[in-house]
Amino acid sequence: MDLPPHIVNLDGERSARFVDRLARFESPAFTARRARRSEELGAKNDPIVWASAQGVNVTDVDGNRFVDLTSGFGVASLGHRHPEVVAAIHAQSETLLHALGDLHPSDVKINLLEALCEMVPFDARAVLSLNGSDAVETALKTALIHTQRPGIIAFEGGYHGLALGPLATCGYSAAFRAPFEAHLHDHVQFAPWPTALEELDDLAPAIREAGCVIIEPIQGRGGVRPLVAGGLERLRALCEENGTLLIVDEIFTGLGRCGAMHLSEDHADLICFGKALGGGLPISACVGRADVMSSWGHPDGEAIHTGTFFGHPLASAAALASLAVLRRDGLCERAVALGDLFRRELGQRNVATRGQGLMLGVPLSEPGAALHVSRALLSRGYLALPAGAHADVLQLVPPIVMRDETARAFCDALADVLERA
Ligand SMILES: Cc1ncc(COP(=O)(O)O)c(C=O)c1O
Repeated sequence: MDLPPHIVNLDGERSARFVDRLARFESPAFTARRARRSEELGAKNDPIVWASAQGVNVTDVDGNRFVDLTSGFGVASLGHRHPEVVAAIHAQSETLLHALGDLHPSDVKINLLEALCEMVPFDARAVLSLNGSDAVETALKTALIHTQRPGIIAFEGGYHGLALGPLATCGYSAAFRAPFEAHLHDHVQFAPWPTALEELDDLAPAIREAGCVIIEPIQGRGGVRPLVAGGLERLRALCEENGTLLIVDEIFTGLGRCGAMHLSEDHADLICFGKALGGGLPISACVGRADVMSSWGHPDGEAIHTGTFFGHPLASAAALASLAVLRRDGLCERAVALGDLFRRELGQRNVATRGQGLMLGVPLSEPGAALHVSRALLSRGYLALPAGAHADVLQLVPPIVMRDETARAFCDALADVLERA
């Protein structure tokens, strides 16, 4: 489904009732943030309450129809509820919902492991898990177990998930780390996000000491900031010289979003996938070089890194269907073409963009500006989120299946909103 926005009533009663109940029952960490934002923006009804979604459209409990340029945090690359993903989930639910993870695995989990290992240009082994944070956790543990060196080099502005392991490497915002500082280890060195290749060379002494470097090819939540061209290759060379592992976090950038299944080429030792992998179901993976993964030990020993739901059959079936659709429908190529269209259309309306494929950012001049733009777009029926620790970038990560007309109509709306701002 790819229909234009249709706003019936953004201050609808059903939404208001749900939002009141949300305030009563949800942890105040979330509710307080919502209330603060509503106050700041003079918006009565923030958030909207999703009732259904299909393709590029989301409908709320009051029947307002939106066009989603968030893909639900980058998950719905194939569009929401892609029919083949839904069919695979139905079919799997008729046979097996849950197995014994690493002990007695399901057939579908094994099929997915094979598909993921075939996606990378090296002899690989993979660990499945539930969300992005888990995949990063697996990569960090793998690096430590392989190199025996606790040091980690991460980047300012980087976002890798909020469980304690990944949080230690999150350079996105000090506020996320501060309350948990006592539980965060001090082996992480944060490097500035490089603006030139030579700045990576300056990291050579630190890389020599560290066990791993963790990096996103494009910082997504950090404000859609692409790594300098040739950056991964340069890091790979520096890491290889020193026996340090390169972890490339492709949780947001991977699986078609930026025009390829991943942007790591042959530079990574460990690649993390998540978000779009399950087509809407929670599943993630850390795919690593076989010799690195072999450091986990012999299968006769205890499985010291596992989880009850790792490799869940339902999510594995959804992931296999998603990967098949991505390939069959040429969605990597489509992401490039549609990304070009967005850039061209916005450029013609004097709106600057950065990014690659369908991970685009519109830099705005003031901190907080993206919150206002995002709210103005919402009232016109478009969902788009702020990015950057100072909310000064509008993030555009639409479903790859969006039609050209829908993209053009959005560009008109955004240009108009920016003109009136
Ligand atoms: C690059 C990157 N890594 C890791 C994560 C964490 O994923 P999750 O929220 O599924 O734990 C995110 C989430 O936005 C991400 O963008």
